[in-house]
Amino acid sequence: MCGIVGYIGNQDAKEVLLQGLEKLEYRGYDSAGIFVMNTSGEGNLFKEKGRIKELRQEVKQDAQGTAGIGHTRWATHGVPSAMNAHPHQSENGRFSLVHNGVIENYRELKEAYLQDVTFHSETDTEVIVHLIAKFTEEGLETFDAFKKVVQLLKGSYALGLADREQPEKVFAAKNKSPLLVGVGEDFNVLCSDAMAMIRYTDQFMELMDGELVVLTDTAVHIEDVDGNVKERVPYTAELDANDIEKGTYPYYMLKEIDEQPGVIRQLVQNYQGKNGELEIDEEIIQAMLASDRIYVIAAGTSNHAGWIGKQLLEKIAGIPVEVHVASEFSYNMPLLTEKPFFIYISQSGETADSRAVLVKTNEMNYPSLAITNVAGSTLSRESDYTLLLHAGPEIAVASTKAYTAQIGVLAILADVLGRAKGKTPEFDMIHDLGIVANAMDVVIDEKETMEEIARLYLSKTRSAFYIGRAMDYYVSMEAALKLKEISYIQTEGFAAGELKHGTIALIEEGVPVVALITNAETAGHTRGNIEEVRSRGAATVVVSMEGLNREGDQIVLPEINPLLSALVSVIPTQLLAYYATLHRGYDVDKPRNLAKSVTVE
Ligand code: AGP
Ligand code: GLU
Repeated sequence: MCGIVGYIGNQDAKEVLLQGLEKLEYRGYDSAGIFVMNTSGEGNLFKEKGRIKELRQEVKQDAQGTAGIGHTRWATHGVPSAMNAHPHQSENGRFSLVHNGVIENYRELKEAYLQDVTFHSETDTEVIVHLIAKFTEEGLETFDAFKKVVQLLKGSYALGLADREQPEKVFAAKNKSPLLVGVGEDFNVLCSDAMAMIRYTDQFMELMDGELVVLTDTAVHIEDVDGNVKERVPYTAELDANDIEKGTYPYYMLKEIDEQPGVIRQLVQNYQGKNGELEIDEEIIQAMLASDRIYVIAAGTSNHAGWIGKQLLEKIAGIPVEVHVASEFSYNMPLLTEKPFFIYISQSGETADSRAVLVKTNEMNYPSLAITNVAGSTLSRESDYTLLLHAGPEIAVASTKAYTAQIGVLAILADVLGRAKGKTPEFDMIHDLGIVANAMDVVIDEKETMEEIARLYLSKTRSAFYIGRAMDYYVSMEAALKLKEISYIQTEGFAAGELKHGTIALIEEGVPVVALITNAETAGHTRGNIEEVRSRGAATVVVSMEGLNREGDQIVLPEINPLLSALVSVIPTQLLAYYATLHRGYDVDKPRNLAKSVTVE
């Protein structure tokens, strides 16, 4: 949520900052700003509502500087506006500050320390910069004032701070929100995500909660709030700058949908051991086998992947699984079994709701596994074990390839666990995932059909439904989220059999109902439910799997193992969401009110 960048070196800071923000824009995009200063401490501040391209137009070319900070915002306190955009400045203009996160006690701090200060924004952030100014005016050195302030803050923050009286430095601090230092030759940078700065360096240092940093062009000084100096060795970020380009695609989402067959093939390769069988670190397997129940914790699309994972782990490995919405689990924990094992599924590895649960289960000493796309992310670092998605950066806010990769990893995990328990596999997972990847290719090639269906059924409607049973129900939940989050059509993903218990009242003439049918056992009942809504005026679209299809079904998927059907049946729903959004004239990659990585609770 929100992107932070910072730079100190000898190049034109504003260009590094703007380019960095462009790469981080997917994290928040309601407003943006940069502050740059030259070596004499003369500074320029630019802030604008809207996207980075709007900010670019505001930035004066002659605003030269060799240090600066930048921010792309996802508002939590105060409307998106130039006033509320970061950086925020102290009254004397000496300090400029960017912040990602939420300061929970900002009102109390204002009341206690800043009654005589005029505030210019509605944000929770602004108190921080005024407090730093106040403590320096009272005689503290900037770094000490900064340290004193972060000790007063309650909540989450990644902070970047510029001081016009020390133009050779940029300061930073972190608690809960992600922040990295990028190390270069004769320059150093700050960023919320390595993607922002990969053009300039592939050497990064992770910052830990409670740490503060002073960057100069040649040095990185890290210290905790108690004054202990920290040595940190940089790691090499394995990120290909080309992976974060759209290439010839109009939108990242379409590129990422298209990448899915390749991601599944790559995943199988990555988890294939020397003997040709799927392999997962023995320690993870033993820890899971020692538990009596798996608790899957995740949000949004990752949570939906968890429901598919539950089916796979229970049916293939015979281990009971509960799936929970992270934000609910955190503060309303159910009674746990004696030996729980926690799986955190998260594309970004930064989701604050999931992390809040991890902090608690770590305190309780329960074993944990992060299934994530981002090596070195907070969830990965703080869990006992990690399995990576190897999906390449996912940039569109609407998650697609991460969902299928998460299911892929869960299928592989279920297979390995099942074999470790001595079960004879009922099918060859490697072979069947290969068939899945081919089937994905077939469906992806049907873009014209999907576009046409989206135009006919979804270009004008106010609401829509996805229905299905079992695996198809879980995919319906994901399909509905995808459609609503980017096209703004009010969509429900519903258990087909449950409709008649109330929700069918919403079916009226012309309401699109998309039904998914990939399972022989439930196909007949779902067909019945389709008739029920059709006879009440619904405009039905049927997505069925070969062998279960009937005349008139609009989308027929190649036949695959029904346990893996989600990997293929989700693809038409992703494409329908994509084309519906295009037909309705919205930005596919950057839907309103959302951000890619949600680092506030
Ligand atoms: C997906 O399309 C969403 N935008 C969102 O639900 C997302 O899946 C959720 O915020 C969880 O993110 P994570 O996987 O990075 O934890
Ligand atoms: N809470 C701050 C604000 O609303 C920062 C939000 C963000 O992380 O973008 O301005």
